[in-house]
Amino acid sequence: MIIRTTVESDLDTIHTLIADQSVNTVTRERYDEFMANGQYRHAWSWVAEQDGRIVALAIWWGMPQYDHPFSVDGLYFVGDGDPVPVWAELIRHTLDAHAAEGEQPEYHIFVPNGWREQPEVVAALELRLAAAARAGLSEVTERLRYEWLPEYGLPARSTRLRFEPADDEAFLAVFVRVIEGSLDAATVRAVAQMSAEASAKEDLEVYRSMPGERDWWRLGYDEAGELVGFVVPTANNGGPVIGYLGVLAEHRGHRYSDDLLAEGTHVLVGAGAERIRADTDLTNRPMAACFERLGYRNHAVRMVASFPVG
Ligand SMILES: CC(C)(COP(=O)(O)OP(=O)(O)OC[C@H]1O[C@@H](n2cnc3c(N)ncnc32)[C@H](O)[C@@H]1OP(=O)(O)O)[C@@H](O)C(=O)NCCC(=O)NCCS
Repeated sequence: MIIRTTVESDLDTIHTLIADQSVNTVTRERYDEFMANGQYRHAWSWVAEQDGRIVALAIWWGMPQYDHPFSVDGLYFVGDGDPVPVWAELIRHTLDAHAAEGEQPEYHIFVPNGWREQPEVVAALELRLAAAARAGLSEVTERLRYEWLPEYGLPARSTRLRFEPADDEAFLAVFVRVIEGSLDAATVRAVAQMSAEASAKEDLEVYRSMPGERDWWRLGYDEAGELVGFVVPTANNGGPVIGYLGVLAEHRGHRYSDDLLAEGTHVLVGAGAERIRADTDLTNRPMAACFERLGYRNHAVRMVASFPVG
């Protein structure tokens, strides 16, 4: 079996393979658009060839300004037998190519709510997670996807916090402080691998590179003028999102997350948002409860396969 990155002459085969979407994020429209703008690349797409025929394909997604991909967007198989070893091999090629740079690519799979009752979704997901685990991405985090639409009602704005924009230095400092006691699996993983400062810096860089406006970000202060937390309303390719939100450990337990989420929602709606999305880990109960209190609805699940901590 030959493993290689794709080339222009593979396009017809790729188009045929991606037509069967299964649990993959890739669609024909997304593929063509992302190949044109650098979010998909031949250098980030791998095929396995058997006797001159492509039998498997892995497509990775990344941001145009980065040299490495962030996550697998699709895995396809048209060979005989078990796809798991072939997919694992394809995933491993990307991990090997970027591990030296210290990058930690992941595999994100989007499934609808109630997927456990849909046998074909369960089967497609299990094969892909098995391949990811075999390639080293053995930790799986289930993230709840929340959505806000105007018909769900605009949450009331805070009467106890005051909000202000701030510079990167101030956001970096609050990102470092909020890491303490975080229930977010990706944060816990990042901090186990690097310092809180390095992880916060990376977060700042990622949120800064997102397509939302930097001046939407807010710090929240209580009546005594004490810093309580922050909210990062922004956007990704799919539209407006609540990128990040945090309450400083010493202020937790007063539902200040509600005030921050309400403010972030107002900022985005003020900028014209007609749909807002946000994710949180299934295990981050306080955050999930906050989304639900503010009228956000859980519409889907994101499975994230990543390297284990340590
Ligand atoms: C998620 C978060 C914003 C919630 O803060 P909050 O508004 O103070 O939470 P609530 O007041 O609704 O807390 C509800 C309960 O959960 C507890 N709780 C909140 N955050 C907690 C944490 N990180 N660890 C353990 N318990 C926590 C509260 O003490 C409270 O307990 P109680 O009912 O016994 O008093 C906060 O935990 C945080 O900043 N975490 C780190 C960043 C993060 O995970 N952001 C979300 C991802 S975008």
